[in-house]
Amino acid sequence: MLSFKISKLGLRNFRCFGSLDIADFKQIVVLAGKNGSGKTSILEALSLFSPGKGLRNAQTAQLRSHDKPFPWKVTIEITTNPTEILWLATHLVEDKTRKVLINDKPVRQIELNKLLKIIWVTPLMDRLWVEGPEGRRRFLDRLTMGFFPDHPLLINKYAKALRERNLLLRERNVDNSWFNAIESQMAALGSQITKNRLETLIHLNHFQSLNSPLFPAAILGLSQTEPKNHEFDMSDKDALQERWSTNRSRDLVVGKTLEGPHRADLKVNHGITGRAAQSCSTGEQKLILLSIVIGNARALAKTFGQPPIVLFDEVVAHLDPKHRSVLITEIINLNSQVFMTGTEANLFPGLGSEAQFLNTSDFETN
Ligand SMILES: Nc1ncnc2c1ncn2[C@@H]1O[C@H](COP(=O)(O)OP(=O)(O)O)[C@@H](O)[C@H]1O
Ligand SMILES: [Mg+2]
Repeated sequence: MLSFKISKLGLRNFRCFGSLDIADFKQIVVLAGKNGSGKTSILEALSLFSPGKGLRNAQTAQLRSHDKPFPWKVTIEITTNPTEILWLATHLVEDKTRKVLINDKPVRQIELNKLLKIIWVTPLMDRLWVEGPEGRRRFLDRLTMGFFPDHPLLINKYAKALRERNLLLRERNVDNSWFNAIESQMAALGSQITKNRLETLIHLNHFQSLNSPLFPAAILGLSQTEPKNHEFDMSDKDALQERWSTNRSRDLVVGKTLEGPHRADLKVNHGITGRAAQSCSTGEQKLILLSIVIGNARALAKTFGQPPIVLFDEVVAHLDPKHRSVLITEIINLNSQVFMTGTEANLFPGLGSEAQFLNTSDFETN
């Protein structure tokens, strides 16, 4: 029996749906239906109950149905053990900021992360290992946020201070006291950001090692992207501050801050072959991603005593039957509530009575 689950979903003017209500979600929900029937949109709506822009990283204005002149809104009902019910809603206010309400009371997005953890794997993430460091850094920070709910605040504050330093650099400002003040602030934030990231990697490395051998644990580390020959301890506040201070003249030439936690990269190696994820086969890359996400689910369950909600968009279609069934077993063992999509219901054989199959081709769209 799950102690905490999403029991209902309501969508208004959201993507392809004018009005959709689904009640009585079970622990394992399979959304099967033809392409374009709204499967990803439903997962995206659920992902908005986690801070940020959801699993498609969309601008909030894009979420409104193109076919309706009205604002969008997503509502979910959460049932907790024994019988407490919470209503969560999110919608766009004046085409600008996304607001979140818990039982009709406005809360900051960050509060969501303290209440429920939602994690996902989507086809967009297949590119994580082959593209530039920015996506991996964002992925790492999202994982980190699961363990350190205030991590996004640190990231925002650091980004603001970084913009100020870069402005000084571009203006060719030579006022050292200004630089000192900003660098000191950046160092305090940057070292904490790095500590949070490193601790998250320790959790992930440990808990992945408990996964089934069919999902080989990836070995995760943190590195600077450039300049590659300058590794230094970014969790050390004084080292960071000294580094920036020493490199001011170099940074002045390019007009930006070349080193620091904003340039860190997530290093990922295959646990058995040791090969960098970038050079692994696409199949191996997918298994690495799944290993990290299952390890993360396990770590969150252990740390908070409550498993996260897991969203798998088009994941099982790319796995052979053995991996597919082990993946589902791992999730069932975690006791997570999981929402999975696929074009055909027969991609999900062997699910027990806990599973619920919804045919999205039957849902009314615009
Ligand atoms: N803002 C929007 N307004 C109306 N329709 C949209 C919007 N965004 C996407 N769509 C459409 O919604 C449909 C469902 O998309 P999606 O949820 O990705 O489907 P699936 O995952 O089932 O393939 C697609 O036809 C898409 O073009
Ligand atoms: Mg889809």
